[in-house]
Amino acid sequence: MSAARAGTHAVVAGLGSYLPPRIVTNDDLAAHLDTSDEWIRSRTGIATRRWVERGVSTSDLAVEAGMLAMKAADDDMVDAVVLATTTPDRLCPATAPEVAARLGLTGRAAFDVSAVCAGFLYGVAVSAGLVASGAATRVLLIGAETYSTILDPADRTTRAIFGDGAAALVLRAGRADEPGAIGRCVLGSDGEHSELINIPAGGSRQRSSGVPAAPAEHYFQMRGGDVYRHAVERMTAAALESLELAGWEPGDVDRFVPHQANARIAAAVAERLGIEPARVLGNIAEVGNTAAASVPLLLTESAADGRLEPGHRVLVAAFGGGLAWGATTLVWPHVTALPSR
Ligand code: COA
Repeated sequence: MSAARAGTHAVVAGLGSYLPPRIVTNDDLAAHLDTSDEWIRSRTGIATRRWVERGVSTSDLAVEAGMLAMKAADDDMVDAVVLATTTPDRLCPATAPEVAARLGLTGRAAFDVSAVCAGFLYGVAVSAGLVASGAATRVLLIGAETYSTILDPADRTTRAIFGDGAAALVLRAGRADEPGAIGRCVLGSDGEHSELINIPAGGSRQRSSGVPAAPAEHYFQMRGGDVYRHAVERMTAAALESLELAGWEPGDVDRFVPHQANARIAAAVAERLGIEPARVLGNIAEVGNTAAASVPLLLTESAADGRLEPGHRVLVAAFGGGLAWGATTLVWPHVTALPSR
C-alpha cells in the first residue's frame, strides 16, 4: 500500500515487551547497601525490578521486544527502526542498526533517540514525523534499557529506582481520525539543568579535559530531590498542554499513563491534573523505573491485561534527564499486545 493511500498519520498497530528474567528484590539490595525494603517501598513504590545477567545488553532486550511487537502487528515489513535508549550497547555507533539487522531488517532506516526517560515520547514524535513525511509507512519504535549496567554499585538511591526492560510499538500509516492515531506531541527541554541527571565520564567533555575520570564518574548520577520537583511540574504542564491540543478536559481521560519514575511523582501529577487514582496506570512496583522503556512497557502490559481497553481516551506523559519531557494523547485501538512475562 502506498503512503498516500494509507494516510500520513502514525497509528498504533501492535505492541510487545520483554523483561529479563532476573528479579531483584529490595531485600537483595539491602543485603549490600544501607537501605531497606520499607524505605524503598514508601519513598518510591518499588518492590522489585529486573536486571540483566552478565553479558546481556540493550540490543538483546530490544530485539526480543521488537520481535513481539511485529508479531502483534502481524507485520514484519517495517521500514524504519527507532530505538529510544539511555544505555546504548556502545557510545558509537547507534544500537538501532544492529537491532534492525538482528530482526531481519537490514537496509531499513535505523537510528537511536537519546532523551533519557522522555526518550519514548521523543521517539513517538520522530516516528510520527517519519510517517508524515512519507519516509516510512511502518515504523518499529523500541524503548530499551539496561540501567543496571550504568548504576554505581555504591549508590543506594539509583540502585533502588532503576530497572532493565524493553518494549516496542509498530506504528503504521493511517488516518488522524482512527483509533490508535497518535495525537499532537508536546515536547520540551531545559538544558540549564543538565547536571541533575548525568554520566560525567565517557563523552567528549571529559575526554577533552585531559583529566582521567574517577571510577564513579562512569556511572549514572542523579540529584533526586531536584529531579522530583522538576518532574512533577514539567509532566503536569506538558500533560495539560497535550489535553488542550486534543480538546479534552482532565475528566475526559479514561487512562493516564505516566512515566514510571516514582509512584509518588505519578500520583502528584495525577492529583494536580485532577485525574482520579483509579484511572492512573502503573507498574513501577514490579519493574522500577525503566526509563525509555517505561511508557511502552506499561502500555503493553495494560493492553494485555485489560486495564487499557479499545475506546479509552489515553493521556501519556514523561519526564527525564536533559531535562526533557513530553506528552501526547490517543484513543486506544483494537490492537494486540504481547508482553513476555
Ligand atoms: N535507602 C535509604 N535511605 C536513602 C536511600 C535508600 N535507597 N536513598 C536515599 N536515602 C536517604 C538520603 O540519603 C537522605 O538521607 P539524609 O536525609 O540523611 O541526607 C534521605 O534518604 C532522604 O532523601 P531525600 O532525597 O529527601 O528523599 P526523597 O523522599 O526525596 O526520595 C528519591 C528520594 C530519589 C526517591 C526521590 O527524590 C525521587 O524519586 N526523585 C526522582 C527520581 C527519578 O524519578 N529519577 C528519574 C527521573 S525520570
